[in-house]
Parts: sequence; C-alpha cells; structure tokens
Amino acid sequence: MNPKPQTQPQPATAADLEPIYFARPSAQYRALRHEIDGALQRVLDGHVYILGKEVERFEADFAAYVGAAHAIGVANGTDALHLALRALEIGAGHEVIVPAHTAVPTAAAIEMSGAAPKFVDITADRYGLDPALVERAIGPRTRAIMPVHLYGHPADLGPLLEIARRRGLKLIEDCAQAHGARWRDRRVGAIGDIGCFSLYPTKNLGAIGDAGIVTTDDAALAQLLRQLRQYGWRTGQLSEIAGFNSRLDELQAAILNVKLGHLDAGNARRRAIAERYLEAFGNLPMALPHVEPDCEAVYHLFVVRTPQRDALKAHLQGLGVIAGIHYPVPCHHHPAYRGRFGDVRLPVTETVVGEILSLPMYPELTDAQVGRVIDAVRGFFAR
Ligand SMILES: Cc1ncc(COP(=O)(O)O)c(C=O)c1O
Repeated sequence: MNPKPQTQPQPATAADLEPIYFARPSAQYRALRHEIDGALQRVLDGHVYILGKEVERFEADFAAYVGAAHAIGVANGTDALHLALRALEIGAGHEVIVPAHTAVPTAAAIEMSGAAPKFVDITADRYGLDPALVERAIGPRTRAIMPVHLYGHPADLGPLLEIARRRGLKLIEDCAQAHGARWRDRRVGAIGDIGCFSLYPTKNLGAIGDAGIVTTDDAALAQLLRQLRQYGWRTGQLSEIAGFNSRLDELQAAILNVKLGHLDAGNARRRAIAERYLEAFGNLPMALPHVEPDCEAVYHLFVVRTPQRDALKAHLQGLGVIAGIHYPVPCHHHPAYRGRFGDVRLPVTETVVGEILSLPMYPELTDAQVGRVIDAVRGFFAR
C-alpha cells in the first residue's frame, strides 16, 4: 500500500468566506513571506543583480531536483522553448509536432525560432499528444516532437520517445505545468533531449514575475543555451554566435531558491486535495482527471469535463468559486494562427475545449475551502 502523503489539515479562517480562485499565487507569498523577504533583502544588499550566486544556486539545485546534468535559467517559459529549438538548430523550413490544446506560447515559441507548428490531436485521458497521430504527421520537414505535460500529468512518453528515436527527431518536453511530475522513475525535464519550464507565478514552482529554466543532460547543448541567453557570449563579451537577452534575474532566482525547498510539499498537498475531489465527485456525471499507473501527477490544474461546463461555471461563480478554462481556444483557432498551417482537424481537441473546467487547485487552499468547492460542485448536479 502506498503511504498517504504528509499533509497538514488547515483550520478555517476568515479567508474561507472570500471567493476561491482556481489559482492564487499571493497565498504562497503570504505563507512564505518571512523566507522570501529575507532572500530578496540578501540580493538587494549584495552587489550582483544579474547572473550571480542566486541564479547559480538555483540552476544547480533545480538540475539535481529534476535529475538532469544541466539547468540554464532564462527569462520565461516561452524563451525556454524558443532557445531550446535554436540550440537544436531547428528553424526556418522545419516543422515541430505540437498539440493545439496547450497554452498559446508553446506554438508562439516555435514561430519565434522560424519553424512552423504542426498541430496534432490529443487523447482525452491525459490531454497529451496522441502518439498514433504523431507518427502519421511526420513529414520531410519534421525535426522535433514537443509534447506538453498538460495540467501536471506526463504526456505519453513511452511511444513518443520510441517514435522520436526511430525517426531521428528531437524530443523537447514542455514541462511548464509539471514541475516534479514523474514518468516511471524519472522526473519530466530529464527524459527528452531538452526540458523547458515556465516559472510563471501560478506554476507549481513560480517566481513573482517572469522566469523560466531549461534542463538537459547534454553539455554542448547546455553551453549553447548559456550563450543564446546572453548575446552569444561564452567568455568575455564576445558574441561568438547570434544570441538574445533572456537571463533569469537574481531577485527571481532568490525567490525560486526559497520556493524550490517547498515544491515537494506543495505537490503532495495538491495530490491530497485531488484525492478529496476525486472521492467526492466519483459518482457525478463528469469526467475526472485520470493518472496513468506509470506516472505521478502534480495537479497543476484539476480539470473536469462536462457538456454542462458553462452552466457549472456560472453556478460556481454564484457561490464564490471562480473556476478557469485552460484553454478555451486551441492554438489553431487563434486569429494569429488560423488558416496558416494547412487543413488542421483535431476532433478531440475541438470537443474537449467546450467541456473542460479547472477547479481551484493550489497548496494553500484550506480544507474548509476545498469543502466549499466540493459542496458547490455537488450542489450543481443535485439541482
Ligand atoms: C504549457 C505552457 N507552455 C509554455 C508556457 C509559457 O511560459 P511563460 O508564460 O513563462 O512564457 C506556459 C505558461 O504560460 C504554459 O502553460
């Protein structure tokens, strides 16, 4: 039997009467205020504000956490994906296979590199790329597969890795929503050629501003990524290659150093909240998140699915439970992308976007707040 995760039941507070949002990064700041304020003061009182000791420490500790040999801090998750593509020499004339059911930056990063996204449908169980369709979408210009570990559950990495190896393609993991998630005995970000993480404030590991990080086992790629994030410099101030400015700054790294120490506890609390939801909603006519036996999910979002989504969302809102939709518009339907990448047909994606709803999910939710969400959802189906 698996031991239950260690979680501390939290007493009801005045906050229990306030609206409950699907994510609330300020709650984490309040919980860690003392540690975070101290870390920020250390940076402010120091002399190095860019690429100093805090970034160095965060890169070393995050690489160790993920189980990758190298980690390179960058300005945000979109840049992490963009620079990963550049480091792998993927650009103009190339295609990258990617889901359309993702945050739009996944596709935007591909365009930033000069390559084109090749949108492929997902499976409705884990909301990740469907490997059978990936295989069929590969063409002469395909250079990489970019699975997204959406909502905190690893994509179907077994077959995706096998396809990538057999067809000579790179596998770039979009880990923006899955810090700490495991596939078999490995954490995401240490499985493909490169792992790309957003550290946006709402993420399982989030800065208080923009931040991102790239992980890889390949020393040459790591070196290239370090150059790409800072004008192509390697030693001195000589641009050996054309680069960018995409540095992770010291203040954000100081915050992340504090928060990394709390990531596993936060993920355990998310799983405990998910267990309560799963138990309470088991008999409702609503699709619930499913965890594959070879995966450990980190519930970045707790996404349910029902054709009554809009009515459920409005009902919850009336009771002060503010649910979200991730994402209401798939990438290929955004005006910026519509009609530009051929005849894109994604029936599973098209169906789920009309039915998905993200219920409140973050570690600082009190047990009483979780109870309020449960009562509100059950109340909708009892009408
Ligand atoms: C799946 C996914 N990919 C990429 C990104 C981009 O990250 P960022 O907002 O840090 O640029 C995000 C976050 O918004 C995301 O959720």
